[in-house]
Amino acid sequence: ALVSMRQLLDHAAENGYGLPAFNVNNLEQVQAIMEAAKETNSPVIMQASAGARKYAGEHFLKYLIQAAVESYPEIPVVMHQDHGQSPAICKGAIDLGFSSVMMDGSLMSDGKSVASYEYNVDVTKEVVQMAHALGISVEGELGVLGSLETMQGDKEDGHGADGTLTREQLLTDPEQAADFVRQTQVDALAIAIGTSHGAYKFTRKPTGDILSIQRIKEIHARLPNTHIVMHGSSSVPQELLEEIRQFGGDMKETYGVPVEEIQEAIKYGVRKVNIDTDIRLAMTAAVRRFLFENPSKFDPREFNKPAREAAKKVCIARYEAFGAAGQA
Ligand code: G3H
Ligand code: 13P
Ligand code: NA
Ligand code: ZN
Repeated sequence: ALVSMRQLLDHAAENGYGLPAFNVNNLEQVQAIMEAAKETNSPVIMQASAGARKYAGEHFLKYLIQAAVESYPEIPVVMHQDHGQSPAICKGAIDLGFSSVMMDGSLMSDGKSVASYEYNVDVTKEVVQMAHALGISVEGELGVLGSLETMQGDKEDGHGADGTLTREQLLTDPEQAADFVRQTQVDALAIAIGTSHGAYKFTRKPTGDILSIQRIKEIHARLPNTHIVMHGSSSVPQELLEEIRQFGGDMKETYGVPVEEIQEAIKYGVRKVNIDTDIRLAMTAAVRRFLFENPSKFDPREFNKPAREAAKKVCIARYEAFGAAGQA
């Protein structure tokens, strides 16, 4: 059944686990997530980014997720809009039937300029008032995603802050977070701790100076009842990079967020863990391998099948690692 995000995150908090929130763009990704959820008995959050809406169209995304809800009636599913850039975009998703939206007011609606705190509070508050009247959950974001190694915003997927950022912008301030939650009444708060979207997060296995789990602990100490969201949480498994390289791909050396760091964060209030890149890497590795090993095949069903299997494997691993398995 379609459920609100609030419902799932409250359950996750009561029972001390985290939920992976997977980005979806096509049929095979939706199927992979649902099969993984079914096999592990996990609740599901599927989310559509602006890029997904551009690629597939919002109606296709809506009905793909709706098809999942109907095909797996026993599994609770959240249909979430990822990184809404304005109240108007969030309203569009709500009108379309999404059960949860993110108002990302950390950036202006151009997706590039860092917003003022006052702007962020205003737009987020506006979305909460509109959404809560209809039983829809809202995720807000405070702090700017980007790298503490380069002090650059997150540019890999075409949105993210321009220019050089400060440590203050790249690490969410706990006091300001408390004020933000009090003023906006968001259901979940995305924070900045040094992660960024995409495959190129860290140039080495991250340590506390470039991935601040410590900052999550400080925010949680100040806001023990707030559901925290981690963006840019793909782990970028080295074996997937290796497989992509082995079958003709060109991936530079890079590191993601280790699963153990996410597990630590889940002890301190992180309830939603956003993952897109790991599914992309898994599918690409599988497609490359299949086409390399079967150069005469040309039916997309034949290479989409191992891609779907590989995505499912990643989803199962995250459901289990975050403690969501068995919680549906
Ligand atoms: O928001 C970040 C997700 O990884 C989605 O990326 O805009 O390329 O779909 P995208
Ligand atoms: P990754 O690029 O690390 O998978 O992050 C996805 C995300 O945060 C979507 O909002
Ligand atoms: Na990056
Ligand atoms: Zn994100």
